Amino acid sequence: MDVLVVGSGSREHAIVWKLKQSKRLGKLYVAPGNPGTASIAENVPIGVMEFEKLADFAEENKIDLTIVGPDDPLGGGIVDVFKSRGLKVFGPSKAAAQIESSKTFAKQLMAEAGVPTAEFQVFKDYEKALNYVRTKGAPIVIKASGLALGKGVYVCKTIEEAEQGLKEIMLDKQFGNAGNEVVIEEFLDGQEVSIHAFCNGTEFILFPASQDHKQVGEGDTGPNTGGMGVIASVPWVTNEQLEKIGKTIVKPTLEALVAKGTPYQGVLYPGLKMASHGPKVLEFNARFGQPECEVYMRLLKTDLLDICEAIVDGKLPSNVEWNSGHAANIILASDGYPGSYKKGLPITGIENAEQMEGIVVFYAGTKEQNGQLVTNGGRVLAVTATGNSLKEALDKAYAAAKKIHFEGKYLRRDIGAKALSQKSV
Ligand SMILES: Nc1ncnc2c1ncn2[C@@H]1O[C@H](COP(=O)(O)OP(=O)(O)O)[C@@H](O)[C@H]1O
Ligand SMILES: [Mg+2]
Repeated sequence: MDVLVVGSGSREHAIVWKLKQSKRLGKLYVAPGNPGTASIAENVPIGVMEFEKLADFAEENKIDLTIVGPDDPLGGGIVDVFKSRGLKVFGPSKAAAQIESSKTFAKQLMAEAGVPTAEFQVFKDYEKALNYVRTKGAPIVIKASGLALGKGVYVCKTIEEAEQGLKEIMLDKQFGNAGNEVVIEEFLDGQEVSIHAFCNGTEFILFPASQDHKQVGEGDTGPNTGGMGVIASVPWVTNEQLEKIGKTIVKPTLEALVAKGTPYQGVLYPGLKMASHGPKVLEFNARFGQPECEVYMRLLKTDLLDICEAIVDGKLPSNVEWNSGHAANIILASDGYPGSYKKGLPITGIENAEQMEGIVVFYAGTKEQNGQLVTNGGRVLAVTATGNSLKEALDKAYAAAKKIHFEGKYLRRDIGAKALSQKSV
């Protein structure tokens, strides 16, 4: 099978790395890809939002299956364009992807379907939103409804912060149209867990649980990022809990989408808080997480191509198996991220890191400049390791991360630390 992967991040590098192991794979293309994908597949210089050009490429090259990584093209309707042209594509339709691209849509769907989530209200009017915030008091959470690169959420400890957040989203329009509507919701305490499921519309298969570390600073401090590091599986999440998450969250959500006439095909990724009264949904994502995908691809035993093909055909893959150990992903970021940072800084040592047993480095914000790999984004590299135990995976990933150098390299040193010191919630 000839396959096209759409995207350019460490998530897509990991997908490509995994697909490459399939015995059934023919040619493998990535659009636009990055220097990491270039070494194992063919990069095609087409942007992720150029749907017609991507579909032309798929037609001309007789691509058998296209796999879409990022949220923007999914939210924009790439799947509908491909399907209307008779092309096989892995990912949800534009209508189904609203579960991520509109937080308002997601919250209303959850309310209708009885899926546990934070209590909320939706506002288009600034004055009404402000009144609501003042009535509810802090802590409170304010979210731009649309896609905002993971920056449109304000977790506010005080009313002043909440007022400031509302002003930035609704009056200053910091996120453009993504802030036309805001979701204001109850603050939920507890640990965060990432859940993923392969979904064929009506049925699903859960992955093991994973845990990202969203905040930039150690001890979960400072501003939110796209994710600073992940562990999978999460030792304290029990099979019973996972089963309950499937029953009370994934199943009713898929049923509600079917009832709307927009069945969900692809990977559904609910972000959860394990609150004291049980798991509650913070948000849905309509794709693999980044940086979660990197650890999942390291742990997935089954051929990803078989899985994606089954889902696209509306079937459930006959088996999805995972390696028994654990995986860890440490993100190497640019100094200053998620604020401003320098670009174009030379990167060295990746080969040394990958010579270590169990290490694979996936590329994120990187590019090649005069034959030299340089930094080109906030999150630069994803250093992944597998191990028999979580501790082993983390120790290996950190040892490998040490071998990689670029000016201003920043990493959190406490990825997985909480999970290591905790057996259950
Ligand atoms: N109701 C809430 N209570 C506590 N923290 C929250 C709540 N909603 C979101 N957060 C925090 O903000 C982060 C980002 O929110 P999320 O809804 O996942 O939006 P996005 O990923 O689109 O930025 C979450 O990972 C979580 O840490
Ligand atoms: Mg999120």
